[in-house]
Amino acid sequence: MSSNNQPWTFYGRRLVQTGNLNHNDTLFGGTMMSWIDEEIYIYAKCQLGNQDDMTMVTARFGEINFRSPAHKGNIIEFGMKTTMLGRTSITVDVLVRNKSTHSIICEVNDVTFVCVDPETMAPKPHGIKECKQ
Ligand SMILES: CC(C)(COP(=O)(O)OP(=O)(O)OC[C@H]1O[C@@H](n2cnc3c(N)ncnc32)[C@H](O)[C@@H]1OP(=O)(O)O)[C@@H](O)C(=O)NCCC(=O)NCCS
Repeated sequence: MSSNNQPWTFYGRRLVQTGNLNHNDTLFGGTMMSWIDEEIYIYAKCQLGNQDDMTMVTARFGEINFRSPAHKGNIIEFGMKTTMLGRTSITVDVLVRNKSTHSIICEVNDVTFVCVDPETMAPKPHGIKECKQ
């Protein structure tokens, strides 16, 4: 999926609960997208040094592929890879999998967050040349 050959690093985990399900009793795709957005925000902000005077906005969600359903009681985990570090932006690929079976639930390419000044919301250089992990 990714042109980047770095291994995935898994960060956040979530428990699929009753309130997260759709009418088919599987994890609702909209909830998954919202979780991914939040997980990437946390990952990207930490990669960029978690500076308090900087916030970020989602500029782009690339291709999203839902590969297999997640069910109530599943613990899922979010793998991240940085694919590009720009002047004000960071672009990430994401792989969501079932923690116990490792079956792939969802893949997302090219999610770009842009650092912005919290007051003006204008793009702001993050000043980072290398990710922090
Ligand atoms: C994202 C946003 C700040 C970019 O502002 P802009 O004036 O178009 O920014 P610029 O053209 O100067 O580009 C700034 C950076 O953003 C990147 N960028 C902007 N739009 C992008 C897109 N659609 N996809 C990928 N990167 C994008 C540029 O490549 C550039 O990166 P770099 O500095 O690392 O080289 C602006 O479009 C915005 O506020 N969008 C709404 C964000 C939002 O509300 N998100 C949902 C809630 S968080």
